[in-house]
Formats: sequence, C-alpha cells, structure tokens
Amino acid sequence: LSGNGDPSVTASAPGKVIITGEHFVVHGAYALAASINRRVRVSVSSSEGASSTISSRGVISGIYSDSDRSFPVVRTVAKRIFSEFGKPKKPVSIVVASEIPAGSGLGSSAAVSVATAAATARYLGKEPGEDLLSDIALEGERAVHGSPSGIDVQASMRGGMILFSKNSGTKPIPMDRAIQLLVVFSGKQRRTSELISKVAQKKKEFPGLFKHLVDSASFFGLQAVDAATTGDLPYLGAIMNLMETSLSWIGASNKSLDNLLEQVQTDDVFGAKITGAGGGGSVIALPKPERAEALLREVASRYSHSFLCKVPEKGLLIEEG
Ligand code: MEV
Repeated sequence: LSGNGDPSVTASAPGKVIITGEHFVVHGAYALAASINRRVRVSVSSSEGASSTISSRGVISGIYSDSDRSFPVVRTVAKRIFSEFGKPKKPVSIVVASEIPAGSGLGSSAAVSVATAAATARYLGKEPGEDLLSDIALEGERAVHGSPSGIDVQASMRGGMILFSKNSGTKPIPMDRAIQLLVVFSGKQRRTSELISKVAQKKKEFPGLFKHLVDSASFFGLQAVDAATTGDLPYLGAIMNLMETSLSWIGASNKSLDNLLEQVQTDDVFGAKITGAGGGGSVIALPKPERAEALLREVASRYSHSFLCKVPEKGLLIEEG
C-alpha cells in the first residue's frame, strides 16, 4: 500500500463515559472510564479535487488552509500523520461522521482524533503502534482542550473499561459482565478547556483541600474497579454519588445540571453524576437493571438525547481496507 489509488479506509472510534475521577485525573488521580456505543467514523479516500479536504455534514475545508479554523482536531492529526509518514502523492478527501454530539462530555474530540489518526495512517499503509497513535491523537485533542490528561484518547483507542492515571498510564479492567448506564445529554455544549481552567483556579485557592480530594478520587476509583468487576451496583452507585459532590465543589456542576440530576435520582437508580468536564454536557446514572427501560422513557420525554448503553464497548476499529 502506498497511498493514492488505494481503496478508501474507514476507521471508527467510540466515545466514552468517565465513571469516577474526571478533573481530578488532570491533577494526578486515578480515574475509571469506559467506551460507549456511540462512534465516530473517519474515511480517507483519494480525491479528484486539486487539494486535500476535510468534510463533515456538508461543511468542507482544505487541510492546508491556515486561515481556516474549522476541523481543528482532524487538521492537526492529519498534518501530523503526513509529516510522520509522508504526504499522500495525490489529494485525499477525509470525511468525518459522528454519532456523538460535540461538547456533550462523551469524548467526541478524542474519538475524532483517534479515528483520524488510524484512518490516515492506514491509508498510507502504516500501522503505528498504540503508543505512537495515542501520542498523535493526544496532539489532536490538545488543539481543542488545552491540557487534557489523555484519558479520553485512551478510552476511545483501547475500548473496554480502563483505569487511568497520568503517572501509571492505562490499565485495562477485564469485565465478566457488562454494566448498563443511562446517559443523558443536558443539551448544553461546553468547552472542556474552560472547565479545566476553572478547576485549576479552585486548586490555587484551596491547595490542601484540593489535594485531599485528588487522593480521595484515586481511592474511590480503585474501589469502583472492585464494585464494577464484582457487579456490586449499590456500591458503585454510592461511589458515583459521592464523586458528584466533589465535582460540584470544584465547580463542574451548576443549577441546571443539579436539576437534571434531581430528575434522574429516583428510586430506580443506585447513583448518578456528571460525566466528563461538566458545566453542561452529560450525566450518567446507574439504574436498577429491571427499571432501566422505564427510567429511560421517563427521562427521554424531557431530555431527548438520552440513551441506555452497556459498557464497555470495543475501541478503535478499522472497518474496511
Ligand atoms: C474530560 O472527559 C475529562 C477531564 O478530566 C479532562 C481530561 O482528563 O482530559 C475533565
């Protein structure tokens, strides 16, 4: 394979939910995350046009037009792959299709980044190892998130359930049985980078308090691994509830998210919390299995972007060669 003239390549990568430890993971804590059944597909094929393009939902832009600010993640990653492995000999068309709403806290930019890195590399006949691929994908995420911990890229690329920390990297958590979660998108998009800065401010103001919350997030992350792998849902739900109070204290929640959580915190759930950066985005709830469908129906009447998912799901996939 040498690039142009080859059949198109499609790679897909999943979004994610963070079960414990978002934000605290940026400051060194362990966090537990799982891939979900909402994916991003990126296809690369040779183009008849004069120059290489990126497109999605009818918007099209040149890869090398420096004044254009659209598709920052795809542009960053594609350029990096081309500088690493050599530019394609003829123009290419990169097409992105996403099932994950942007700014929903479900890891859409990491999934776009991972799928773009894999699809463009494979188009050039390359198969970079997971470490190089995740470094490149992280560069893409940085183009929009400032200083991410790397957990979103890891969850999307590797799939499954993962325990992650900046120091010890990614540990896959084998799961005998899936866990069903209800995901509810508040409908409010927000910028992860802004929330990360807000939390950094809180840390500056209360360094001692903050450090102990980071340590507690690690402790509860490890407990959550036990609860998830043994299927102890009441325990897992209790941990989620407690983590929510810390997230709220560091400024990741707000009135409308509290109201959303109030609606899902019924007798049908063991626990619920923000997932991802907060400030908007999504919440996850851990429903009692026999009540999950009924809860979904009730919540979906008010929040149309709600869905049940069994975690974990598969990570990065090359869908066709
Ligand atoms: C975003 O999904 C999770 C955060 O912890 C940021 C990060 O870890 O990169 C808020």
